[in-house]
Amino acid sequence: MKHFLNLKDISSVHLKKIISDAKKRKKKRKKLNIIDEDKDKPLKGKLLIQMFEKPSLRTRLSFYLAIKQLGGGTITLRSNELHLGKGGESLEDTAKILSSYADGFMLRTDSDQKINDFSKYLKIPLINGLSPSSHPTQVLSDIFTIEEIKKKSISKMNICWIGDSNNVLNSLIAASVKFSFNLNVGCPKNYGPKKSILDWVKKNKRNIKIFNDAKKAALNADVVFSDKVISLNDKVDKSKKIKDFKNFQINSELMSFTKKDSIFLHCLPRGTEVSNVVFSSKKSKVWQQAFNRVHVQKSILLYCFEKLR
Ligand code: CP
Ligand code: NVA
Repeated sequence: MKHFLNLKDISSVHLKKIISDAKKRKKKRKKLNIIDEDKDKPLKGKLLIQMFEKPSLRTRLSFYLAIKQLGGGTITLRSNELHLGKGGESLEDTAKILSSYADGFMLRTDSDQKINDFSKYLKIPLINGLSPSSHPTQVLSDIFTIEEIKKKSISKMNICWIGDSNNVLNSLIAASVKFSFNLNVGCPKNYGPKKSILDWVKKNKRNIKIFNDAKKAALNADVVFSDKVISLNDKVDKSKKIKDFKNFQINSELMSFTKKDSIFLHCLPRGTEVSNVVFSSKKSKVWQQAFNRVHVQKSILLYCFEKLR
C-alpha cells in the first residue's frame, strides 16, 4: 500500500502513471451512467473512509464517485462526532480502529501534523484531501485537465499562478518540479512562497519566477491559475489581505497579456480574485476542471492500493 500525502514525495514516474491511467479510464466510461461501475471493478469490496475537519464539496463528492465507480464504497465521518475530535481518544488508537474497519482513509485537516501522525499509525493508505500546506489531489487533477485541453505535455507550457502562496500553490510548485514546467507566480511583496519551498525547488535544479507585478507574471502564459485570497486556514487580518491583493485580480486586461489560446483555472470555491467576466468566459475551464477530479481520484486510489496498470 502507498500513502498519497504530498506531490514532492511521490516520484514523477508514479505521478505520470496516475495521469495516464486516469486518461484511459475516463475514455472507457463514455457510455456509463455516473454511478455505474467500471467493468473491471478493481476496488470491489473495498471501503474508503473520508473525514473532513473543514468544509468540502468537490473533494467529498469526487472521492464518493471515484471509489463507487471502482466497485467499492465510502462512508464519511464527521470529525466533531469522533472521540478524537473531542480529545477523548488518541490518534494512535483511532488509526488502529480505522485500519481494521476500512481499506483506505481520506483526510482533510487543519493540521499537517495530523497527516504525519496518521501516516505513521495507519495500516491502510492515507490520502491528503487538503492540509494547511498542500492540496495534492487537486493539483494532480489540474495537470490532467490542462493536458486534456491542450493536448500536449505540461512540460511544454508556461503556467502562471496569480494569488496567495497557499496550499494549492505549494502543490503546484511541487508539480512544476515533478513535471518540469515553467511556473511564474504573481503576488504582492511579502506574500511569496516560503523560503524552505524555494530552497527545495533549487535543490531539485528547477527555478520558479516570482513577480510582484501580475502582468509580468501573466505574460505569455498558457494557463492562469488563481485561488481565494483568504484560505480556510487563514488566521489573518482579512480586510488588509484583500486590500494588499487589489492589483492581483484576474480580469480581462490581465488575460490580454497571456497567450491567445490561454485558459483560466480555479480549484473553487471562488472569491473576488477573478472577475465575473473572466470566470464566465470561454477561457475559463473551471467546470471541466472540477469534474475531472473524479477521474484522477480514481487513479490516485488505484496507486494507493498498488493496482495501477
Ligand atoms: N477544490 C476543492 O478542493 O473543493 P472543495 O473544498 O469543495 O472540496
Ligand atoms: N486554498 C484553499 C483551497 C480550497 C479548496 C483553502 O485552503 O481554503
